[in-house]
Amino acid sequence: GTTLGSAASGTGRYFGTAVSASKLSDSVYTGILSREFSMITPENEMKIDATEPSQNQFSYGNADRIVAQATSQGARMRGHTLAWHSQQPGWMQSMEGSALRSAMLNHVTQVATHYRGKIYAWDVVNEAFADGSSGARRDSNLQRTGNDWIEAAFRAARAADANAKLCYNDYNTDDWNQAKTQAVYRMVQDFKSRGVPIDCVGFQSHFNSNSPVPSNYRTTLQNFTDLGVDVQITELDIEGSGSAQADKFRTVTNACLAVARCTGITVWGIRDTDSWRASATPLLFDGNGQKKAAYTAVLDAL
Ligand code: XIL
Repeated sequence: GTTLGSAASGTGRYFGTAVSASKLSDSVYTGILSREFSMITPENEMKIDATEPSQNQFSYGNADRIVAQATSQGARMRGHTLAWHSQQPGWMQSMEGSALRSAMLNHVTQVATHYRGKIYAWDVVNEAFADGSSGARRDSNLQRTGNDWIEAAFRAARAADANAKLCYNDYNTDDWNQAKTQAVYRMVQDFKSRGVPIDCVGFQSHFNSNSPVPSNYRTTLQNFTDLGVDVQITELDIEGSGSAQADKFRTVTNACLAVARCTGITVWGIRDTDSWRASATPLLFDGNGQKKAAYTAVLDAL
C-alpha cells in the first residue's frame, strides 16, 4: 500500500488517528486524514462532558460531524470513551454513590445506543487503574460507587450495542513487568472467566523519555491476546525526531504486526502541531503536513 490505511489493510489491520471536529474545516488536515487513515477516534467529542453536558441532555453535534467525515471517506470509528474519571461534566463530578452509578449507566446506555451500528470498538472504560506499584484501582468518584463499576459499564454497553467491540483502555500498561499491567491483565482474565462482555484491550502508548517503548511490549500484547481478547494501539505518540523517533515507531508497528490479534494502530493526531503535547513533536506529519521519517518507517514496516 502507498498510504498508512491501505498498507495496514494489506495485513488485515486498520491505521487510525484521533480527529478534532474543529479542524475538519482545515483542508490540509482533512486531505491527509482522508488519504491516509482508515479509523477515526474523536479526540474529545465523545467524552462525557461533550456528550452529556447537562444531566440527561445529550449533545452529539461535534461527534456526529466526525462520524459523517468517517462515513464520507470510508473509515470506521473507535468510540472514546463512555466512562472515565476525567473530562466529566460538572454535574457528574459532584455526584457519588448510587445516584452516580445510575447516571453513569444511563450515560453508557444512551450514548452507545445513539451510535449503535456506527462504532467498530468502544473504549467503554478508560484509565481505571492507579500508576505505581500498588496494582490498585485508581481512586475516583466512579470507583467509590463499588469495585464492580467497570463490569457494570461493560454489561450496559453490550446491552445497548451487541456488535461493537468493547474495550478497556489505559496507559502505562505496556511493560509486562509493571504492577499496573499485571492488574489490568488479572481484571481481563477475571472478566473472561465470568463472562463479563469484554472484547479488546487498548494500549494508549504515549511514549516519552520517562515511559519509553518497553523491550517486552510485544510480549505484553501477546499475553493479553492469549486471554481471548483483541488488542489495539489506541493513542500512539512518541516524543522525539529524526531517525531515533522513526526507529521507535517502527518497533511499535512491528510489535503489533507480530501479534495476530493486534487489530490496528491509532496515532493521537495527524500533524505535530495537532498533538496534545505538541512540544514533543510526537506524530507522523510535521506542522506543514509533510511526512516525517517516522511516517516512512511505519509505512515501510506495514
Ligand atoms: C486528551 C486530548 O488529546 C486533549 O485534547 C484533552 O485536552 C485532554 O485529553 N488519554 C486519553 C485521551 O485517553 O482521551 C487524552 O486526550 C490523552 C490521554
